[in-house]
Amino acid sequence: MAEKERQRLDKVLAHMGLGTRKEAKKLIKERKVEVNGELAQDPGLHVRPGQDRIVVNGEPVEYRQFVYLMLNKPQGVLSATGDESGQVVVDLLSPNYQSFHPFPVGRLDKDTEGLLLLTNDGHLAHRLLSPKKHVPKTYYATVSGTVTQEDVEMFRQGVILDDGYRTLPGCLKILRSGPESEVELTIYEGKYHQVKRMFQAVGKKVTYLKRIAMGPLTLDNTLKPGEYRELTEEEITSLRSLSQ
Ligand code: URA
Repeated sequence: MAEKERQRLDKVLAHMGLGTRKEAKKLIKERKVEVNGELAQDPGLHVRPGQDRIVVNGEPVEYRQFVYLMLNKPQGVLSATGDESGQVVVDLLSPNYQSFHPFPVGRLDKDTEGLLLLTNDGHLAHRLLSPKKHVPKTYYATVSGTVTQEDVEMFRQGVILDDGYRTLPGCLKILRSGPESEVELTIYEGKYHQVKRMFQAVGKKVTYLKRIAMGPLTLDNTLKPGEYRELTEEEITSLRSLSQ
């Protein structure tokens, strides 16, 4: 491993969720940390994460660079990492996940619920968000107004939004049609407020919106709003293959 890939021991410990940098320094001072079988005394010791064997309080520390979390975003929380004026999705995570500095891959509106991927893997996030990739996103929505087969056809052709942009074809499925309709819509791009604006373009209003799938990921229905879990190895592999 190149010298520049070595990192300070206190930084590595903090990254692994063992506390703040200050707390990590304290652990080292208290002689609770070993590196490759030797007591570590210097928080500035440069170690090779993933290669050097780090043991804290007798327990080996498993190093990993990235985390991948599936969150069922609740309403009322912003898809951001930091905001003075409101709760953000990262606030919902426990400190040991926050220490990886994950960020949301794309955005859901404040009043939208559902599947949000959080990771610190910038390359993966960048590729998933690339407009060229056309990663499908599926939403469940309730809509005020009767959604008809004409709407399905309009969406299939692409609708013209309020700014004149014609969307890519979307796949609209009617689950229930009536004065308040229930639908599923799959879109292949992510313009600002896209689902709401697509329905607005056909004279209807979205009253509830929840993302239920994104690329190969489907929202885990055991997650209540505000709950999250790590992606499985299979889910990570399928995301990586999609984003290559
Ligand atoms: N489309 C919207 O209108 N809002 C979202 O949060 C996501 C897609």
